[in-house]
Amino acid sequence: MDFDSKISFWLNDEKIELDKLNSDQTLLDFLRLEKTLRGTKEGCAEGDCGACTVLVGRLKKGKLRYQGVNACISFVASLHGTHIVTIEHLKSDQGQHPIQQAMVEHHGSQCGFCTPGFVMSLYAMWMENADPTTAEIEEALQGNLCRCTGYQPIVKAARNIAKFGSLEQDFLVKERQQNIDRLQALENNTPIAISQGDDQVFVPKTKAQLAELYAAHPDATLVAGATDVGLWVTKFMRPISPSIFLTALNDFDAVQEKDGQLIIDGGVTYTDLLPLIDEKLPQLSTYWRRIGGAQVRNMGTIGGNIANGSPIGDTPPPLIALGATITLQKGEETRQLPLEKFFIDYGKQDRAPGEFVAQIQVPLPKPEAHFATYKISKRRDEDISSVAAAFYLEMGGDKIGALRIAYGGMAGVPKRASHVEAALNGKLLTRDTFENALNAFDQDFTPLTDMRASATYRQQVAKNLLLRFYDQHFGEAESLDTLRQAALVEVN
Ligand SMILES: Cc1cc2nc3c(=O)[nH]c(=O)nc-3n(C[C@H](O)[C@H](O)[C@H](O)COP(=O)(O)OP(=O)(O)OC[C@H]3O[C@@H](n4cnc5c(N)ncnc54)[C@H](O)[C@@H]3O)c2cc1C
Ligand code: FES
Ligand code: FES
Repeated sequence: MDFDSKISFWLNDEKIELDKLNSDQTLLDFLRLEKTLRGTKEGCAEGDCGACTVLVGRLKKGKLRYQGVNACISFVASLHGTHIVTIEHLKSDQGQHPIQQAMVEHHGSQCGFCTPGFVMSLYAMWMENADPTTAEIEEALQGNLCRCTGYQPIVKAARNIAKFGSLEQDFLVKERQQNIDRLQALENNTPIAISQGDDQVFVPKTKAQLAELYAAHPDATLVAGATDVGLWVTKFMRPISPSIFLTALNDFDAVQEKDGQLIIDGGVTYTDLLPLIDEKLPQLSTYWRRIGGAQVRNMGTIGGNIANGSPIGDTPPPLIALGATITLQKGEETRQLPLEKFFIDYGKQDRAPGEFVAQIQVPLPKPEAHFATYKISKRRDEDISSVAAAFYLEMGGDKIGALRIAYGGMAGVPKRASHVEAALNGKLLTRDTFENALNAFDQDFTPLTDMRASATYRQQVAKNLLLRFYDQHFGEAESLDTLRQAALVEVN
């Protein structure tokens, strides 16, 4: 394989070309230490607070889309072919950018440490939706924390951006064609390899190159969205070289619907899947929007969420309940297995060295089926699940027919509640049947106590979720979404 020897991207109005680079160099360090662009702040260095939010513009099929990401856990090696926009670049013909002006007028800032991150998240939202509702603003700001202003003034500022300028006059809109041209000039199919001392960085451009490189370097760290790997570096100082970055692949982010299934490439991000979730799997819409915050959803991939094998990853329970399978690839060889079989034990997956998660096949629910997902966490937004649950039920006449129940946070792996399923299968659909099945939970799960929840709490909540599923689908309980929507106050 022939390689290029430099990473190229645009930072604001400057073309960056790097032929020296370590696997673990973060964008935040690059901005603050090398480019002295210190408007982007470091709060938590673990993707939680949003103080480091910058925009990453990527070309997809000729279209340029800007998304907020956390610079603290983004690696420079993952930025090839992108346009990075930092707070320093914001401008308008009138001076302050309309979003900055709105923040000033509505007192959206006190100490100001979080403010650049909020402005960048609002900017990403505004470019997609110039007239957002309060609920949409809250969603756009899930990944930004403020310790002193309080969120109401910031939401007010966001509601009133239009008073300070129009999107048509925005500089990134006016300069869009120039930025597209700049990024198109960086596009090619030649993979990149950079070595510095012992450190080795690979940036393949196609899935075939990825397969060949990973088969040749099975000890390499695959880095997709880096929302897990980033923390290995910033929190645990773990070396990740040799590294293979998946973000410049031009054929690893497709989703197609075929024969009643969604076929999802391993590199698809949470955000990119969201429109299809809303359309084809609306029962997952709220759950999906509670994975991380906007920045984490813009970065994190489904392949990464599955491959890391976490017992509290949010995608496995619903995917298992839907009967998903995955395709693993090593070199040119592929194999498929049911997703639930991939998770063998805590920290152990059915994945050979050099094998990667190439695709996920997700059967869509039959129209008459009942499918539901629930996430229980300490905070509503930007928090990892204490317990996650997914239920899929088809009737067989007046009896319970096909049934799959999967939980996260209840064992060392995401796991089906097979004894509970057996206690329900073929039985009459009544609340008594569901209540009687609760005893089977002790055969399925012996959860742990940890900082997120006690074992007793987890066991109780898992049982309660089964009853909630019954009550909401076959009883009279209103969904929590409906109640929350009714309680939401519009801010003007
Ligand atoms: C602030 C914050 C909030 C979060 N909130 C949630 C949450 O609510 N719910 C949740 O489930 N997770 C959450 N996460 C975790 C994270 O977003 C997910 O696990 C994410 O999906 C990982 O995907 P990635 O692309 O970022 O993977 P990476 O971090 O790049 O990689 C993760 C692991 O998968 C491997 N890998 C990546 N892609 C592949 C592939 N295609 N084939 C084989 N191996 C691969 C990597 O080598 C690594 O071992 C959060 C993370 C942060 C930082
Ligand atoms: S510094 Fe907190 S998210 Fe990056
Ligand atoms: S203004 Fe101080 S942290 Fe938000």
